[in-house]
Amino acid sequence: MSSRMIETNLIEEDIKIEGSLRPQTLDDYIGQSKIKENLKIYIEAAKQRHDALDHVLFYGPPGLGKTTLAGIIANEMGVHMKVTSGPAIEKPGEMAAILNNLQEGDLLFVDEIHRLNRQVEEVLYPAMEDYAIDIMIGKGASARSIRLDLPHFTLVGATTRAGLLTAPLRDRFGVIHRLEFYSVEELRVIIQHSAVILGVKIDEEGATELARRSRGTPRLANRILKRVRDFAQVKYDGVITLDVANIALDLMDVDKMGLDHIDRNILCTMIDKFKGGPVGLDTLAAAIGEDAGTIEDVYEPYLIKNGFLNRTPRGRVVTERTYHHLGLEIPSD
Ligand SMILES: Nc1ncnc2c1ncn2[C@@H]1O[C@H](COP(=O)(O)OP(=O)(O)OP(=O)(O)O)[C@@H](O)[C@H]1O
Ligand SMILES: [Mg+2]
Repeated sequence: MSSRMIETNLIEEDIKIEGSLRPQTLDDYIGQSKIKENLKIYIEAAKQRHDALDHVLFYGPPGLGKTTLAGIIANEMGVHMKVTSGPAIEKPGEMAAILNNLQEGDLLFVDEIHRLNRQVEEVLYPAMEDYAIDIMIGKGASARSIRLDLPHFTLVGATTRAGLLTAPLRDRFGVIHRLEFYSVEELRVIIQHSAVILGVKIDEEGATELARRSRGTPRLANRILKRVRDFAQVKYDGVITLDVANIALDLMDVDKMGLDHIDRNILCTMIDKFKGGPVGLDTLAAAIGEDAGTIEDVYEPYLIKNGFLNRTPRGRVVTERTYHHLGLEIPSD
């Protein structure tokens, strides 16, 4: 997986650049205009009331800007952000301690929130609803629960797998947003902006080509920019033009639509072994030796978005577009 150029999950080499490339304000955050408009209103209203912002849930494929948005909210609200994640908190007491240490107005960011275990999650229910936690003291017959008030805080949850969130948790978020893939134009702007910060020379055609092959994902756009820069520096005179972009990306095995060998393997397997589908997710996963959840959350959304694959009640099917793209003839049936 880690050798995959277009892996959209965070990998080691992203960490160095992501910090400096993360937009800090809503105005610098490109795309996702509906989410931005909404957040602007909520933030403004909360500030006027001098109260914490309602709890916010962001979901969507990796690398689209969920963590970035959490940071921006804290920044715009002028509050501290505490960061934790679902798998990092094992015991209810740990969650209670985190909540108890928050200051008035603070933002608690819980990444991978679908991975909180049930007991930990239950601590969040009264915390989110009533800004309180219930603590058990004593044991056996003398045990009783006391309620501790918490400061008003904002929980921002992020997940790539909204389907795995329990209903009681989901229902406690006042604001729920799904992040969408970015358009080529939006990614071009992000790339040109990042190029300025990283001191990379790139022309508009070069930036558009990188954008086209970035799978609708800013994280990938930035990574591709960095890799192509190295390529341009060594092989050309350091400027990323359309030609340089094309040659570099072809070498990296990222095709014109941003698909790589794993995407093509998924599509080809569906065609070769299952006559283009319908094929069940688990069957497909077994055939290509990949985890079903990963296919569903990481690979498939982009393929569906671009019309290479459809979900039907009977399973996944490829489309005419898939045959065209792979240079295959469309079967008569
Ligand atoms: N709207 C945007 N404008 C500019 N850059 C962005 C935008 N969204 C994301 N980025 C860039 O993409 C990188 C990845 O975004 P981020 O870490 O917020 O994704 P994520 O959705 O939290 O991913 P994951 O699901 O893996 O946690 C950021 O470091 C930032 O540089
Ligand atoms: Mg994140």
